[in-house]
Amino acid sequence: MLPGSIQRATLFDPNTRVRKGIESQPSIRATNLSHFYGTGELRKQVLYGNNLTVYPGEIIIMTGPSGSGKTTLLTLVGALRRVQEGNLSVLGQPLEGASPSQLVDFRRNVGFIFQAHNLFEALTATQNVRMSLELTRPDQSIRQNTKDAREMLDRVGLGNRINHKPKQLSGGQKQRVAIARGLVHNPKLVLADEPTAALDEQSGRTVVELLQKLASENQSTIVIVTHDNRILDVADRIITLVDGAIRSDALVKEAAILTQMLAKCSIFERVTPRTLTRVADEMTIERLPPGTQIIRENDPGDRFFLVRSGSVSVRRGHPEHEIATLGVGDFFGETALLTGQPRNASVYTREETLLCSLSKTNFQSAMAESASLETEIREAYFERK
Ligand SMILES: Nc1ncnc2c1ncn2[C@@H]1O[C@H](COP(=O)(O)OP(=O)(O)O)[C@@H](O)[C@H]1O
Ligand SMILES: [Mg+2]
Repeated sequence: MLPGSIQRATLFDPNTRVRKGIESQPSIRATNLSHFYGTGELRKQVLYGNNLTVYPGEIIIMTGPSGSGKTTLLTLVGALRRVQEGNLSVLGQPLEGASPSQLVDFRRNVGFIFQAHNLFEALTATQNVRMSLELTRPDQSIRQNTKDAREMLDRVGLGNRINHKPKQLSGGQKQRVAIARGLVHNPKLVLADEPTAALDEQSGRTVVELLQKLASENQSTIVIVTHDNRILDVADRIITLVDGAIRSDALVKEAAILTQMLAKCSIFERVTPRTLTRVADEMTIERLPPGTQIIRENDPGDRFFLVRSGSVSVRRGHPEHEIATLGVGDFFGETALLTGQPRNASVYTREETLLCSLSKTNFQSAMAESASLETEIREAYFERK
């Protein structure tokens, strides 16, 4: 068991978290987001048509090779760079075309923790942290700001370093000052680029637990770019960026939620919880835009599907007419797998939909277990008679 997982269990009930997330307005929504550096012949594309939706309270970990565009994406989300192509709405503010004063207001709600921590050498730890409050809470008294800054330093384990200047601090201590500065104003969105890179295991853990606590108390959204495998367990989702494009977007606690959803599907009624957990693990999940065709009438069936979020339209005939709509927790595609007949309808997404699916082989092995269970029950029944 990973350190911190006990806290996670109490703070991060994955079911309430994800359900809450899906119902609320996203805190980050990127649509077809691309980015280029340079102009003319030197113009180079570094982000390619990325789509991303993040909900309040989610902790996202972004990984990927060096140069894949993680920092670029993070700085776009934090409005430190202008959106060039695509749409990006963060904390309800469309960033493309936002006015300078809208951007100033916007950044007050964001906490930045960057690799190059840029502390002011002439200022003490307290003053460095307090500066963030002076920018984000201009109406609060210096006295209160000082108190809040000291409390925050205490929380990152620097209570005994509050009057030290950066050059009197170790690399790890400086990074913790930078973290305190990024979190002191309780931002709605925290963007952290390799925040634990310079920290030992214990300090790294303290920092990510602080981030977790903030996310759960304030419903803050946290995006952490990291290569640090020791902290992956804090994530609700792990996003992998490769060559400027999001390759995978996995919900970490998804298997537990899926197991509960599968347990409610009538066809899995007789499958044991252990098999359901295995089935959930074997399911793949994908995010589909509205209007995507998932299966086509008369095609052979090769997968079983479960709607994780969003909804789909089931249509039949020529011309096609809708015979049903299916929503969260509904499943489809089982008939062709059970009977070996071709698909008896076409299915399309009606909106952006998270769709889980299971290969035919995995589906059939789960069903085989269910059948043997049924046989067992029947036999037990007849034996008793
Ligand atoms: N200011 C810049 N000017 C030109 N190219 C840049 C600039 N910043 C980053 N790049 C290039 O953009 C690509 C993505 O960089 P970056 O977003 O920093 O990736 P990562 O954070 O994943 O390492 C890299 O090829 C990098 O060399
Ligand atoms: Mg980077």
